[in-house]
Amino acid sequence: MSDIERTLSIIKPDAVERNLVTEIKEIFKNKGFLIIKEKKIQIEKSEAEKFYAIHEAKPFYNDLCAYLSSGPIVVMVLEKENAVLGNRELMGATNPKDAEEGTIRKKYGISIDKNSVHGSDSVENAQIEIAFFFKD
Ligand code: CDP
Ligand code: MG
Repeated sequence: MSDIERTLSIIKPDAVERNLVTEIKEIFKNKGFLIIKEKKIQIEKSEAEKFYAIHEAKPFYNDLCAYLSSGPIVVMVLEKENAVLGNRELMGATNPKDAEEGTIRKKYGISIDKNSVHGSDSVENAQIEIAFFFKD
């Protein structure tokens, strides 16, 4: 049974800065993801704090929010069958050191904080995150 989903993907500042946007978008397209919406923006730290509110209690929260707001990012809505899990698999583990061969984080990630991409972790969070960035 086909289960078309949408998920939120962010190309983080470290990857935008290294001009990897076109390359990373090609990876998504080659894996069959449709890029339904896309915008390049820079967010305020206060917006990053809202986006990552789920991590509020974590020791890395402040640095994470400072980092996500430190430079331009590319925010995309990706669509595919089982897009949420498919994107998580294509991204690889949070720490690029642990990421599998062939994943985006393995290929481009610099460190656990500069790991090049964000992807929603559930269908429910995907809807919340898409609404956060694309208020239609
Ligand atoms: O992004 P992902 O869902 O794989 O990981 P997360 O656990 O939701 O954490 C969000 C982001 O926080 C990660 O992508 C990392 O960039 C950052 N992080 C960090 O800087 N240090 C950690 N120990 C864990 C996560
Ligand atoms: Mg996460």
